[in-house]
Amino acid sequence: MFEHQPRPEWIAAEEFLSRVVVHPDPALQQAINSAAEAGMPAIEVAPNAGKLLKLLVQLTGARRVLEIGTLAGFSTIWMGRGLPPDGTLVTCEFLPKHAEVAWANIDAAGLGEKVEIRLGPALETLAALEEEGRAPFDFIFIDADKENNSRYLDWAVRLGRPGATVVLDNAVWEGAIVDPAMDPVNAPGIIGALELLGKHPRLDATVIQTVGSKGWDGFALGRIR
Ligand code: DHB
Ligand code: MG
Repeated sequence: MFEHQPRPEWIAAEEFLSRVVVHPDPALQQAINSAAEAGMPAIEVAPNAGKLLKLLVQLTGARRVLEIGTLAGFSTIWMGRGLPPDGTLVTCEFLPKHAEVAWANIDAAGLGEKVEIRLGPALETLAALEEEGRAPFDFIFIDADKENNSRYLDWAVRLGRPGATVVLDNAVWEGAIVDPAMDPVNAPGIIGALELLGKHPRLDATVIQTVGSKGWDGFALGRIR
């Protein structure tokens, strides 16, 4: 796994913001704990980023959310908390163990009726969602294997409605976007997706750099034209 390098003062500031502003609920803390107990990597989004996802879902009035990369369901629960009563969320996960842990967390968070976890390679699931007529989605969050980022972004444009929101995690990757030798495995996929974000005729986008418990990274935010 690529080494992220948070500075202690970034972590302290994030903890302050989490406590004073973000107020994660117990189901979210349980999602973190269960992931650790299951030996899963602590690579979920930070609490302040999770809450940003929830607020973006609410601010955009999204009713149909697609997530690529479930992990233990932390971001899933955050986005689920932003859904209206008739809202739904489909989340794609490759590993059965992760999906199992995530399902327990999502159900315990009271989101079992709204959320569907689709197990398997996301590229296959995305094609199936199109075939099944599950599109269009209002909001797409991409946070899975970085090598496929450009393919996921292509699918997001294909499955999102005009005006839909696309959010992509890990858009700076400790600065490896300008020094790909830092991570030859993941950097090319991250850079390729950023280039696609910037030139895709149906996307309008920006990237915000972040620091905190997850090191130096970034959130890409796009709108499908
Ligand atoms: C990793 C993946 C992520 O999505 C993330 O936010 C941080 C780290 C990883 O694979 O190392
Ligand atoms: Mg991520």
